[in-house]
Amino acid sequence: MTPELVARLTDEMRYEYSRTAPPEGFPRFPDIPVGRFVSDEFWDLEQRHLWTKVWVIAGRSEDAPNPGDFFTFDDLGSPMVLVRGNDGVLRAFYNTCQHRGAPVVRDAKGSARLLRCQYHSWSYDIDDGHLVSVPDERDFVGLVKEERCLATVRCEVWDGWVFINQDPQAMSLLDWLGPVARELDELQGASLRTVARRSEVVPCNWKVTAEAFLEVYHFRHIHSRGGESLLDNRGAVMSLLPNGASRMITPFSRATWSAMGMTDWDDFGHFETPGFPDIPTVNDMVRSTSSAYSIFPNLITPIAAHGFPFITFWPIDKRTTRIDWIHYAPIDFDPDDGLPPHWDQRMRGFDLIMAEDFWNMAPMQKSLESPALRGIPINYQERRIWHFHEQIDAMIGLENIDESLRVERLIEPYIER
Ligand code: FES
Ligand SMILES: [Fe+2]
Repeated sequence: MTPELVARLTDEMRYEYSRTAPPEGFPRFPDIPVGRFVSDEFWDLEQRHLWTKVWVIAGRSEDAPNPGDFFTFDDLGSPMVLVRGNDGVLRAFYNTCQHRGAPVVRDAKGSARLLRCQYHSWSYDIDDGHLVSVPDERDFVGLVKEERCLATVRCEVWDGWVFINQDPQAMSLLDWLGPVARELDELQGASLRTVARRSEVVPCNWKVTAEAFLEVYHFRHIHSRGGESLLDNRGAVMSLLPNGASRMITPFSRATWSAMGMTDWDDFGHFETPGFPDIPTVNDMVRSTSSAYSIFPNLITPIAAHGFPFITFWPIDKRTTRIDWIHYAPIDFDPDDGLPPHWDQRMRGFDLIMAEDFWNMAPMQKSLESPALRGIPINYQERRIWHFHEQIDAMIGLENIDESLRVERLIEPYIER
């Protein structure tokens, strides 16, 4: 973040504290149709038109450091393998042999000079996926090996994080991320390492899980500590960014900022967390607030100078979602040897917040599926959710969505360009 952006966001936080209603002219959102969360129709539209066209995170660059190193990625349903070529470039292929469809690699992670299917040993090149050899090739009539390459998937890396996209026509990852990539440059992502990962399956639609991280309206109700909230949602600034992304900066509550020795919520300082290596380039506002970014469709990150999690939401079926949270940090230990106590304690603290969110989400799907809910009214503080839904419709294509399931286009004038 530039100093100008930090100054603007601080002014916007002051405005948020001072206002007595949403800004003049801000739209009244129509209800979000409940069918978007509960109908088979909407689930099918998302499967067909959304997940096949978006950039999603598949791992880290250091998960496959050397030529021939590979790891698999199955989180969107279609199995894929990401492999580093002899030229050092990481590429993604569908993990589906072009003979009779067996997976080409079966280990989640490994290293190989050729990708050799274990069924009949058809072998593929690690650089471009071309079919190198076929046992008993004489017995195939008219086999054209050039036509039997592994099917490719787009794969691009941003600051050490590896993303894939099944749409050959998709814009580049960096264009998709736009300002998010530029602003998060200060995290020095390429130098960070994976510290720990957690995963939980929650019985609700993936959008219910994602939305819980797009507002802080719920924060003091679900996450209060002895009646005190760590954050003050009244000063939160939600910025809507291109391609469905968003940013949310929430001031600390009085209890938090005074405990930190700040004189007020905007008395930002270069706070470091004792015992944790620091990312020195992280700006003081991030160190003195809760700052979070969302990358459409399924990644949210509450950033911090001593490391932070990426929280991702993976649809399993209409009413089941797996949530992963993976912590990245500039560390001075090898996580394979186990977590040191200060990290263990930090993880437990974060897991507790996640558990509070899961407790809340778990019964929601049943409730949404009951005939009770007529529609979902969204307030000004929840506008990132509206933005998220508009982007879903933009990906699916309005012409493909029944009118009763669409959301209206309202947010464009409020997107920061
Ligand atoms: S299915 Fe892969 S070699 Fe036969
Ligand atoms: Fe929460």
